[in-house]
Amino acid sequence: MAGFSNAMEALVGDRSTLTRLANYGLGRSSGNGVKIKSIPIPSISENEVLVRVAWVALNPTDFKHVDVLSPRGAIIGCDFAGTVAKVGSQVANKWAVGDRIAGMVHGGLFPDRGSFAQFLKTSGDLAWKVPPGVSDEDATTFGVSAITAMLALNTRLDVPWLAENANQGQGPSRRDTPILIYSGATAAGIYSIQLAKLAGLTVVATASPRSFDLVKSYGADEVFDYRDQAAVDQIIRAYPNLDRAMDCFSEGNSTEFCAKCVRKNHGKVITLLDSGKSTMDGAQIEFILGYTVFGSEFQWLPPFGPKFQKIQSDNEALRRFYSTFPDIVKQLRPPPLKIIDPGLENLATGLQMLRQGQVSGTKLVARL
Ligand SMILES: NC(=O)c1ccc[n+]([C@@H]2O[C@H](COP(=O)([O-])OP(=O)(O)OC[C@H]3O[C@@H](n4cnc5c(N)ncnc54)[C@H](OP(=O)(O)O)[C@@H]3O)[C@@H](O)[C@H]2O)c1
Repeated sequence: MAGFSNAMEALVGDRSTLTRLANYGLGRSSGNGVKIKSIPIPSISENEVLVRVAWVALNPTDFKHVDVLSPRGAIIGCDFAGTVAKVGSQVANKWAVGDRIAGMVHGGLFPDRGSFAQFLKTSGDLAWKVPPGVSDEDATTFGVSAITAMLALNTRLDVPWLAENANQGQGPSRRDTPILIYSGATAAGIYSIQLAKLAGLTVVATASPRSFDLVKSYGADEVFDYRDQAAVDQIIRAYPNLDRAMDCFSEGNSTEFCAKCVRKNHGKVITLLDSGKSTMDGAQIEFILGYTVFGSEFQWLPPFGPKFQKIQSDNEALRRFYSTFPDIVKQLRPPPLKIIDPGLENLATGLQMLRQGQVSGTKLVARL
């Protein structure tokens, strides 16, 4: 490969299977569980591009992979922004060396795919061209959190796509009823609020009082304290036709809270962690996983762990979402950024902050 040595540095998982199973059983971990390793620069297929990574964003899924799911040597990290370094023949009509590019890759599971690395490979159709005026650090936030919001709202909860002239009545793509965004101050919540609001829905959110102003500043019409015992009744009274909810926390009693708010209307709750339930209190519950956008099957903790089939419609949804960038990106505001110290060597500290629940209302990003 002209202009490159064949090696790069990457942050990779460094826990044994036994340790990860123990972490899963105990619900906690010790140590960072990662190390920097020199590995080959990934080789690309004809549909892929090689990206020189400039910035990354950190997500809770990254440390959860490190602690439980990532085989030793798997590259950690999903979100990235950078420049195209090499172009596969099938996507040469779309990308050129030097183009600014951002997106999300399936990090944490494979030895040659992940964003916490000097280079990454990604499908040329599942990334977007970063326009002038959008910084790399902002661009890198439109990965896991924004894609998850899009999947939940546009493909599962009938929220109209931004460019769509939606029906006013019942049926797919409707803005006739409000939406509840539980834990609106999460990064997923901040993008969900914006996608729903821009689509013309009334947005009801929950948050801690410390995050009320933040959540409102992204467009929530009304915010309730999720710890307030009276909140469910207040929401039902104020929004009697509520029939859809996005549970951006999906732990403790958050899904039950959402289910109670929509059950009268036989509504639907999307969760981001798997409760193993498909109904609750008369509401429909559906767990979604952002990794289904890549159009490939995968398995956690093989050979015994859960297998995930590919969902072609999710793959098409991501293509559709990113194809409307860079127009959409100008309508969406990233979460407040917290820039951590640059370099692969500091990412473990950021992951530790997420692991310890020290990140609130901000998105951790880092320059590599
Ligand atoms: N299934 C998927 O594909 C998928 C995709 C993305 C994320 N996720 C999962 O979704 C969750 C959120 O991810 P994220 O990156 O959006 O989160 P995040 O930005 O790291 O979330 C931070 C926020 O969590 C809120 N929070 C903390 N404790 C809470 C509690 N007890 N109840 C309600 N909210 C609480 C805080 O809001 P307040 O200030 O209001 O307390 C805080 O601002 C994580 O578990 C993540 O792994 C899953």
